Amino acid sequence: MGRPAIGATDGRGAPARTATGAGIYLHVPFCRRRCHYCDFNTYADRDALIPDYVAALGVDIDAVAGAGPYVLAPPGVEGDATWPVFDSLFIGGGTPTLLPADDLAGIVRHVVDIFPLADDVEITVEANPETVDVAKLRALADAGVNRVSIGAQSFVPHVLDALGRWHERDAPLRAVAACRDAGIDRVSLDLIYGTPGESSDDWEHSVRAALGTGIGHLSAYALTVEPSTEYARRVRLGTATAPDDDVQAERMEQVDAWAADAGLERYELSNWARPGHESVHNRVYWRGGDWLGIGAGAHGHWRGRRWWCARSPERYIRAALDGASTVAGSEMPDTDQRRAERLMLGLRLTEGVDRTSVAPIDDRTVSALVSAGLLTADDDRIALTPAGMRLASAVTLELL
Ligand SMILES: C[S@@+](CC[C@H](N)C(=O)[O-])C[C@H]1O[C@@H](n2cnc3c(N)ncnc32)[C@H](O)[C@@H]1O
Ligand code: SF4
Repeated sequence: MGRPAIGATDGRGAPARTATGAGIYLHVPFCRRRCHYCDFNTYADRDALIPDYVAALGVDIDAVAGAGPYVLAPPGVEGDATWPVFDSLFIGGGTPTLLPADDLAGIVRHVVDIFPLADDVEITVEANPETVDVAKLRALADAGVNRVSIGAQSFVPHVLDALGRWHERDAPLRAVAACRDAGIDRVSLDLIYGTPGESSDDWEHSVRAALGTGIGHLSAYALTVEPSTEYARRVRLGTATAPDDDVQAERMEQVDAWAADAGLERYELSNWARPGHESVHNRVYWRGGDWLGIGAGAHGHWRGRRWWCARSPERYIRAALDGASTVAGSEMPDTDQRRAERLMLGLRLTEGVDRTSVAPIDDRTVSALVSAGLLTADDDRIALTPAGMRLASAVTLELL
């Protein structure tokens, strides 16, 4: 099969955007230490693999770009001959900023060179606060990175200890300042709420500390107990308690109010932003767009086909460097599964979801949820109200 041209045209020579947006996700599966709550595909004992992993990513980026979108399209769906323009590149992990600055900047440049990206493309790197400094961030900014998402989780030492975080309390503040010094002004902080032992005052302190940096984007996640984590082991042993649902519901209300005071609007269940600072990349997922997933354990989605890459970094490296496929599996969700997924993801957004993309939905159920104050609905869209956001899973189930 000949190698297709890279890029897409709208008939006038310019690459075309897709209606729902398209993104590229790259995964970096290394961390300095494993946080107690985290079950992401990441490893704290494999830094020796980093040079080979960087090489493998480079080979895989070329392979995906060269294969072209028609290879990804499911049977029966006419594949596009060339790539559309991509709205976002997101390098996540793990801790991408554990990579040497030149390697990470090189990966960004590689993607920028080989894929058609929008003029206003969002290029995000996820960072652990102890792994960035101004020099590294400048190197990333020079390569095109214009957004950094930093894991803070809390600004209270005993909460950080309970979470098994290894960064020092004020490290996220220094990391935000370093981003600014490097000329990156789109910065997001992640916080976690509902950690056992975290008081309402602790939570207020953390949220106010995060917002006090003047960031334009905040993610606040309810702590979840993931089965294979150190936290889950401690809960089983009785040395840690599981989060309390009522406390978490209260914490979510609090962060919503404090973020609004600071000028950040809630645009998704767990995300707040100043206007214009919303995450373009995550919106591609929530709006039902397509994305390429490259890297160990990365998932991709294209025109109804989902696939995932080999989870183990060793296996991923071996496949890529041997010139073999790094894809470990793929599936074509049926109409019901696709509709359920659109509903679950779309309702996370305050803008809601287009009714045709989640059809059929029962009008009587919609009316009942509207009467209960949990949903808004017009001819085109349905969306959760603030009260509905508190019961998002239950409302989604009811609609399904
Ligand atoms: C890849 S990490 C962010 C960057 C970097 N690895 C770090 O932690 O500093 C993604 C985010 O997911 C959230 N997260 C991961 N596991 C979670 C869990 N079990 N409960 C709630 N939030 C979780 C954390 O807020 C974390 O910052
Ligand atoms: S939360 Fe971030 S730093 Fe901690 S183990 Fe997960 S990916 Fe690594």
